[in-house]
Amino acid sequence: MAAIDDIPVVQLGVEDAAAGLVLSTEAHWNQNEDDWRFFLREGVVFGVHDGAQLVATAALLPYSGNNAWISMVLVTASHRRRGLATRLVDTCLETARKRGLTSWLDATPAGAAVYGPLGFTPTLQLRRMRLERSTRGAAAPPAPATLDALCARDRRTTGFDRTALLTAFAQRSGSRIAAASGSIALVRDGRIARHIGPVLANDAATALTLVDAIAQSESGPLLIDAVASQKEFLEGLATAGWTTERPFQRMRFGPATKAGEEPPFAVAGPEFG
Ligand SMILES: CC(C)(COP(=O)(O)OP(=O)(O)OC[C@H]1O[C@@H](n2cnc3c(N)ncnc32)[C@H](O)[C@@H]1OP(=O)(O)O)[C@@H](O)C(=O)NCCC(=O)NCCS
Repeated sequence: MAAIDDIPVVQLGVEDAAAGLVLSTEAHWNQNEDDWRFFLREGVVFGVHDGAQLVATAALLPYSGNNAWISMVLVTASHRRRGLATRLVDTCLETARKRGLTSWLDATPAGAAVYGPLGFTPTLQLRRMRLERSTRGAAAPPAPATLDALCARDRRTTGFDRTALLTAFAQRSGSRIAAASGSIALVRDGRIARHIGPVLANDAATALTLVDAIAQSESGPLLIDAVASQKEFLEGLATAGWTTERPFQRMRFGPATKAGEEPPFAVAGPEFG
């Protein structure tokens, strides 16, 4: 390969979705091509090529209120520990700085090792939980809810207007928005497993009731990214058979921005916040 410093960082386009998917699949991540298309269309995605091969990426997804999410930081195994992730995240931060945005991300343990030295500070923690289901879901699904209801509740919870993201999720085949007893959640397809999130509720009991009703009506494995400080919710998931796959550390670069009014029980995903 060429010397790393000689390889330019370029901005990627929607036509790079399939190449991006190769990188996230190599890392055993759950994103599908729809996720990549969303980042490439709505965000700014930087990449590094070695010859014709896309070998590294990082994405900056602007949200409302001067916030942005950094994600899809991926470097193919043969090109790691040569500073590519650092360069790409630096490029995202420079873009965020020019636009006056505070950057957030949810880091894997390997990612946290890259971001700490760049000046990111830890905030809350997440737990990626998984539920194996080998039989077809037999129960009726919980009541459907509207996209408007989800967007409004999400705005109250996160403090961000994520109408574009939630609309894109909701429009995908296989997605559904479910509600019960004042709680609301979205379920969507992933590459390996269906993903439940965000989960927004008044208390752990109603959040668990809704997640359980969704799980009973689903077939195949499910993932959820639960907020670690929601202890009762985590304990309830564990009792229901969910197992912890990995932690994520939420980190922030830049001044604190207006926070949401209530913490979520589960987030949309570490790549989206
Ligand atoms: C995490 C990842 C993006 C790092 O990419 P990279 O190009 O190798 O990172 P860099 O070369 O910029 O590393 C910068 C520093 O971060 C630290 N670091 C990077 N990877 C590390 C690891 N696996 N374990 C411990 N420290 C690590 C080191 O201090 C490194 O400096 P050094 O090589 O001089 O010791 C890459 O390993 C990867 O794609 N992993 C799988 C996907 C993933 O977890 N992405 C992060 C999502 S938040």
